[in-house]
Amino acid sequence: MSRVVHSSTALSALEADLDHLAQVGLYRSCRVVQSDQSARVILEGREVIMLSSNNYLGLATHPRLRAAAVEAAERYGAGSGGSRLISGSMELHEQLEQAIARFKDSEAAIVFNSGYQANVGVISTLAGKGDIVFSDELNHASIIDGCRLSRAQVCVYPHRDVGALSKLLAENADAGRKLIVTDGVFSMDGDIAPLPDIVAAARRHGAMVMVDDAHATGVLGPNGRGTVGAFGLEDEVDIQMGTLSKALGGFGAFVAGRQILRDYLINRCRSFIFSTSLPPSVIASALAALEIVDQEPWRRERALSNAAWLAKGLNELGFDTLGTTTQIIPVVVGQADMAVRMSQMLLDRGVFAQGVRPPTVPEGKSRLRATVMATHTGEDLAQVLHAFAEVGRILGVV
Ligand SMILES: Cc1ncc(COP(=O)(O)O)c(C=O)c1O
Repeated sequence: MSRVVHSSTALSALEADLDHLAQVGLYRSCRVVQSDQSARVILEGREVIMLSSNNYLGLATHPRLRAAAVEAAERYGAGSGGSRLISGSMELHEQLEQAIARFKDSEAAIVFNSGYQANVGVISTLAGKGDIVFSDELNHASIIDGCRLSRAQVCVYPHRDVGALSKLLAENADAGRKLIVTDGVFSMDGDIAPLPDIVAAARRHGAMVMVDDAHATGVLGPNGRGTVGAFGLEDEVDIQMGTLSKALGGFGAFVAGRQILRDYLINRCRSFIFSTSLPPSVIASALAALEIVDQEPWRRERALSNAAWLAKGLNELGFDTLGTTTQIIPVVVGQADMAVRMSQMLLDRGVFAQGVRPPTVPEGKSRLRATVMATHTGEDLAQVLHAFAEVGRILGVV
């Protein structure tokens, strides 16, 4: 009996916390989509334009990805049976890693179950007590959590500020291992890390560089290789992390780099070692996605030209999109409750653009995060712009 009382007391504390979140406009809940993740989806019974998906190239619904998943499930079954070191690495995992290494122009690659697991695992493997991680202030939460788990000292540098980063590197010259980690394309701002300058600073100070190219993989650079490829820095960036879940339309993640990095992660990285590997259907659809990225460049060209058209239109209306040049368009509105209201009013007009609030973005910088897809039509985008214009004026944002 005493346990029941104890747990209900604990749950009341959770209730109070949720009440507080609701009061300050930060309460979150999931909306239900009843269709696949196309450019238009059925959201809670209504067709709306999807402007909140990372399915940038439209591959999540591509017939070849679906077929590859079905075929692999038929041939290899539904699950992988365990972690790769215990149950054996399926031949599909090995094939995918070779395909990723070719795609990223790197010596080797290793697959992870998600981007979150990759970042948490890799950072905490490569840095520990006595080491330092230098991390951009707007890096993804999974990088922040990887830094925390590593128990290394963490130096957070102002967003994209290589001068400040260099100063921190110089001040900590005596530290053990030094690891600089940055998003390639920042997930909430859509801007690009100054990788050539970061790499130069790293060289001067003997630091490793890790780039999280979750949002650039498949979209930017030659053949969609990402920001590292766009800058031609494949040999300079030690750790290229990417996801299979965004432009590649499936699920999972990877790290590309030297063979020694792969061997080290297999031996030391806990989120790789102690987790069941991805199922065959997921791996097979990732292989199909890589082929399509290679064969259908129009998808990344269209995603970027669609985004440029929408960002220009939003800017002309007076919205602040932080000068984005990628498929991620932040529409900054300031306060959290304004982002929530605007998101709801857009939804009433058939546009699903999710409001993003603290702690995902800094206080006072709440926004709508509009993500554009290759498969949005001109008609979709015109409807989006019209809805933003109307709602922006009603709310006095423009
Ligand atoms: C920059 C960045 N890194 C990592 C992740 C995590 O990837 P995943 O969704 O595969 O866990 C995300 C996803 O939201 C991201 O935006």
